[in-house]
Amino acid sequence: MSVKERIFAPPPAPGPVQFDERFEAWVVSRHADVRRVLGDHAAFSSDELAHGAHPAPHRDNPVLRSLPSLDPPRHHELRRLVARVFTPRAVSALEPSIAETARTLLVGGAGEVVEGFASPLTVATLAGLLGISPERRADFVRWTITISEFAGANAEDPVRQARFHQDLAELRTCIREVVAKPAGGLIPALAAALDESELLDLVTTLIVMGHETTTRLIYHAVLCLERFPAAPTPGLVEEVLRYLPPVGGTERFTTTRVDVDGVTIPRGARVVASIRRANRDPLVFAAPDAFDATRDPNPHLSFGTGIHVCLGLRLAAGQAAVAIRALREAVPGRWRVPEDGLEATISPVGVDIQRMRLTAQ
Ligand code: HEM
Repeated sequence: MSVKERIFAPPPAPGPVQFDERFEAWVVSRHADVRRVLGDHAAFSSDELAHGAHPAPHRDNPVLRSLPSLDPPRHHELRRLVARVFTPRAVSALEPSIAETARTLLVGGAGEVVEGFASPLTVATLAGLLGISPERRADFVRWTITISEFAGANAEDPVRQARFHQDLAELRTCIREVVAKPAGGLIPALAAALDESELLDLVTTLIVMGHETTTRLIYHAVLCLERFPAAPTPGLVEEVLRYLPPVGGTERFTTTRVDVDGVTIPRGARVVASIRRANRDPLVFAAPDAFDATRDPNPHLSFGTGIHVCLGLRLAAGQAAVAIRALREAVPGRWRVPEDGLEATISPVGVDIQRMRLTAQ
């Protein structure tokens, strides 16, 4: 099967809750069940270190100590603090520089769109959001990639472990510099309310949660526009999110024995909420396997739901819209993504593209 065929292959239809040996987890896939799991933080905890049965190989990863992995009341306190500075206004203020960076990256045409466009655009946006100075951007790219990749099996590799700790130490030094000489952005605004390690954990979390996800949304949008060139612009980003969600699923850990749709899940179990499958639930979406940018409403779960709903959703969707506009200006007319220009990593959880060429047809 080609890379594109794999990406566009429809996921298994949603069904009853089932234990999956491969993930050692209970998989929840119906839209209503995913909403139930993500909406009930008391029974389904996000705190893997407290409720996970096995020690996570990536337990040093700061994300496991920060916002997405916290339960209330600490979650609420930290979320309130971040929401106070990561406002719609702060996001709108970034838009002109996102558009400017996109145009600069596309001088000379589109060419390679992952490493050459989507990833550097996302990194520059995160650096701007956080308040990292342009001189540190090259290092910031390296830290972002090392930190984002430190999860799952990668975290067991000693070389990656050493690099991860080294880059994290450099990021900590950089955060100290930003706090000492503030020039706007989230870091100085958060520094007053958090101690240094909490701040490092949070900054790392924003990098991990914001970089690969948004990069993937942009290249998924390119693939969708190649395949469905007539898709209208309004509603396009939301339908790309539904059809090819950048985050296919998320995990929870049961704090008690709990029933989901007639199935009893024991206490201390890992639960995977399949966003990918819930987004194709025929009880919620008419013709779920059709790509239809005119869907309204489009209640996809690609940004999660409940107390952990994505904090960066507005930034991510806005950035993707700007990226598509800039790509359309750079490559007018119908698009072609040659299969032979695709470099991808294929794993049981999905397909990651590292290189992809975009040309006019
Ligand atoms: C297309 C891009 C993105 C997608 C698909 C995405 C997806 C998600 C999902 C599914 C969750 C919920 C996880 C859960 O409940 O376990 C989440 C949470 C989160 N996202 Fe995003 N995200 C994206 C971009 C961003 C960006 C750009 C940022 C920040 C710069 C960000 C920051 C966060 C944070 C901090 C959380 C945790 C919120 C909490 O626990 O209260 N995300 N995201």
